[in-house]
Amino acid sequence: MKEFVMVKNLTKNYGEFTAVDDLSFEVKEGEVFGLLGPNGAGKSTTLSIITTLLSGDKGSVFVAGIDVMKQKMEAKGVMGIVPQEIALYPHLTAIENVKFFASLYGLRGKKLNDAAKQALDFVGLSEHQKEKPKKMSGGMQRRLNIACGIAHRPKLLVMDEPTVGVDAQSREHILNSIRTLKEQGTTIIYTSHYLQEVDEICDRIAIIDHGKLVAVGTKEELVSLVTDYKSFYITTMEKVQDSEELRKTIGYLPGIKNISIKEDTTRVDINNGEDSLAKILSIFMKKGFTITNVNGEVPNFDTVFLALTGHELR
Ligand SMILES: Nc1ncnc2c1ncn2[C@@H]1O[C@H](COP(=O)(O)OP(=O)(O)O)[C@@H](O)[C@H]1O
Ligand SMILES: [Mg+2]
Repeated sequence: MKEFVMVKNLTKNYGEFTAVDDLSFEVKEGEVFGLLGPNGAGKSTTLSIITTLLSGDKGSVFVAGIDVMKQKMEAKGVMGIVPQEIALYPHLTAIENVKFFASLYGLRGKKLNDAAKQALDFVGLSEHQKEKPKKMSGGMQRRLNIACGIAHRPKLLVMDEPTVGVDAQSREHILNSIRTLKEQGTTIIYTSHYLQEVDEICDRIAIIDHGKLVAVGTKEELVSLVTDYKSFYITTMEKVQDSEELRKTIGYLPGIKNISIKEDTTRVDINNGEDSLAKILSIFMKKGFTITNVNGEVPNFDTVFLALTGHELR
């Protein structure tokens, strides 16, 4: 598959602060590409630059061969945007909102009408087309927000955390819509700080943190980056008191990435095989604990982020 989006050495500063830091990645035509990172990682800033709402300070972005910083109007024409903040006109009905946004892309008359109806149908809001947004639940507003971004049938759809704050039913609806759009050939960039979602719907994922690319690949490729990484659960007969001293004693061992203590279960994430585990067990025994069980867990996608960045996603 060929590249549809190319982000190259992109940097964006807000004053002294660097929100996007020499970021490069490519999105292939027809894939759902996930941008995963904690709040403040620079996801929205990156999307704003891709969608021409902001300019980068360095680097370049090409969408469908169009240089988005130089040919803003052409670039806008091939994209649809579902922004992080719900952007709807409160005094317009659902269908009027969709028609307004689709008209910005040049649709008029019957074409505009049909496109708006199809988009509302697509997000499951046909029966609510005459309602105003304020009468709708958060999940319905999100879906309407999506309808506004897709009515003109963009080749690239850019979605910024579209499921934040929605009920389970709307969330499922949104994820299914994304699957259908993909089947219809739309290329999609999807940002989220939820691992599970990105895991469910994305073909490839870029993990970003502090504006930098940490890793990019399919889920399997990302997991294979951290095969040395393991989580161990140590169960003791006695409850373990979480103390600075214990954390320090364990934490100085090589490869220890994370320690969490909950009553009689201590979880340690280790990056260097089992050497340190043996030492931890002997520390526990010296402290008088009786170890009743030790369980090792091979890395799953949840631990990938922790292993690669040294901290949890949220
Ligand atoms: N207009 C702005 N002025 C100054 N700092 C900003 C502005 N917009 C975003 N930031 C900062 O840039 C960083 C990245 O923000 P953002 O791109 O919104 O991250 P994300 O979408 O991953 O949560 C954050 O630390 C944020 O506070
Ligand atoms: Mg954001």
